[in-house]
Amino acid sequence: MKTYKVAVIKGDGIGSEIVDEAIKVLDAVSINSEFELKYEEVLMGGCAYDVHGDPLPKETIEVCLNSDAILFGAIGGEKWDNLPRDKRPESGLLRLRSTLELFANFRPVKVFDELVDASSLKTSIVKGVDLLVVRELTGGIYFGQPREKEETRAYNTMVYTKDEIVRIAKMAFEAAELRGKKVCSVDKANVLEVSQLWRETVEEVAKDYPDVSLSHMYVDNAAMQLVRDPKQFDVILTGNIFGDILSDEASQISGSIGLLPSSSVGGKVGLYEPIHGSAPDIAGQGIANPIATISSASMMLRFAFGEVKAADKIDSAIVEFLKEGYRTKDLASFGASEVCSTQEAGSIIADKVSKL
Ligand code: IPM
Ligand code: MG
Repeated sequence: MKTYKVAVIKGDGIGSEIVDEAIKVLDAVSINSEFELKYEEVLMGGCAYDVHGDPLPKETIEVCLNSDAILFGAIGGEKWDNLPRDKRPESGLLRLRSTLELFANFRPVKVFDELVDASSLKTSIVKGVDLLVVRELTGGIYFGQPREKEETRAYNTMVYTKDEIVRIAKMAFEAAELRGKKVCSVDKANVLEVSQLWRETVEEVAKDYPDVSLSHMYVDNAAMQLVRDPKQFDVILTGNIFGDILSDEASQISGSIGLLPSSSVGGKVGLYEPIHGSAPDIAGQGIANPIATISSASMMLRFAFGEVKAADKIDSAIVEFLKEGYRTKDLASFGASEVCSTQEAGSIIADKVSKL
């Protein structure tokens, strides 16, 4: 029997509700398998600040470093919005990504046939969308120095080194080799020097992947193309801030931001989290959609542990759940035969998993 150690960070807002459901499903899948999961819960975000005065306490980093993977919910909330930047919940997450060197963020966007109506775009545009945003996660304007907020002036620095671009580009090409064999690199090379280097470097990396076709797009055009014809994309490779914005936009293609998982890898321990935030306005009401987190748990099994069968079971259970017309409140107007709570959704999916 293999044992995998999972650091669990529930975080703030709806974080604990959605992570609890993912754990329910993980438990259901591991019961009938050759592996067991050992969880260790640690604090990050506003809740960690409240207890330790630090959104990323040392103990959290240590536990994460000692784990085989990290399952994370969400952080942030109005309560902590006026703290100095390094005390804000978001700083905890950014420091965790950076400390663990998680430079590659994978955000797959797949449209479930059962939910094509839920998208704000026409069915013909979204049906069959299957794309992957590969976002650089530990560089760019998020981390560039110098940065400062002065009285009447403030600035940040968008910087990428060639090495940083090479390693994320390789990740994107490798992912594309296993998918539709197309990479679209998104930048703003008509304005930014950093994007010119990005573009030249991606061109160089592309030479090692002759079976993958490469195209380039300016980020403003990419934002437009994503809603005009999302099916033209296979892998979108981009930097930190463009990836942040485009992945939220892309999530709407799928109908709800509550559906999309992500993995952040490349460094010491992989981090698996939904792409949505902590939604403080709906926290504690049992109406959050746990599918993005359950799906992130599936990615963890697949990519961190190589437990493909177990991951497939979770993915199939999610599809069955939707096929049978179960919907959480965010999707209640789209083909629901039964509207269920966060907790009911987790239990139904867990139950399906154990029967597979
Ligand atoms: C995300 C989030 C984070 C980011 C925030 C919470 C710092 O929006 O993971 O997309 O900007 O990276
Ligand atoms: Mg974001």
